[in-house]
Amino acid sequence: MYILNISDGNQYDSRSLSGLRPGRPNVKSKKYKDKKMSKFTILNESIFQYLLNHQSDISKPLRDLINLTAQHPLGFMGTPENQISFMVLLAKLIQAKNIIEIGIFTGATSLALAETLPSDGKLIACDIRDEFTKLGEPYWEAAGVKNKINLKLAPAADTLKKLLLDGQAGKFDLVYIDADKGGYIQYIDLALELVRSGGLVLADNALRSGQVADLENQEKTTRQLRDFNSHIKKLNNVFFNLLPIGDGLMMILKN
Ligand SMILES: C[S@@+](CC[C@H](N)C(=O)[O-])C[C@H]1O[C@@H](n2cnc3c(N)ncnc32)[C@H](O)[C@@H]1O
Repeated sequence: MYILNISDGNQYDSRSLSGLRPGRPNVKSKKYKDKKMSKFTILNESIFQYLLNHQSDISKPLRDLINLTAQHPLGFMGTPENQISFMVLLAKLIQAKNIIEIGIFTGATSLALAETLPSDGKLIACDIRDEFTKLGEPYWEAAGVKNKINLKLAPAADTLKKLLLDGQAGKFDLVYIDADKGGYIQYIDLALELVRSGGLVLADNALRSGQVADLENQEKTTRQLRDFNSHIKKLNNVFFNLLPIGDGLMMILKN
């Protein structure tokens, strides 16, 4: 057995690290006792900036579109850059080839996800307002991904139902839900029909700035997201996790 010093100041024996038994820090260490350990990190602007400085670089068209989105009066609707990067990582992990995004806005996430696709991959982009999507299209073009993005300007539920009627059940790898919150329950039910086994559905705003956990908050959108989160708990044949990234990302894996 070797005693290893790891940069957190605690000592671990080598067997714990090789998985032969659970890792246990040397809790008698004074440094460990003095430390106030927290279960989570509360973000502020400088920590957020640190996150952005420690993720993979992004393409110039994506950078330009993220900057344009930030200047838009409704720029808060855009998915934060660290979350986009995380979703790109997920798309790469599952080698996504067919993706659906529900709610596009200026299309920065669509661009980022489309960049991960193979040449014969596609992203179905659902929105109802082309005054938003038109802003992103030149950047999709500049990134060379416009041909992979199939924009459907119609209520998302109609587009998803049409895909099912067209025999596309089980044909998608990843769905990102980020549109009207009142539609979320319908979107997840349709999305779970459209993704393959092992496919992933992601839903944004599942924490709504933490308001879902405050039962005194009975605002309509908060209730809709709370109902959505409760709905996920009742689903069969899925594995899910609510991740505190951005405004809360509900991740649902179809078994
Ligand atoms: C939060 S924004 C999407 C942000 C985008 N996913 C991103 O990562 O930047 C919500 C979008 O949903 C669209 N939307 C609202 N209701 C919709 C519906 N019923 N069907 C499709 N899109 C809808 C809005 O027009 C808006 O562009």
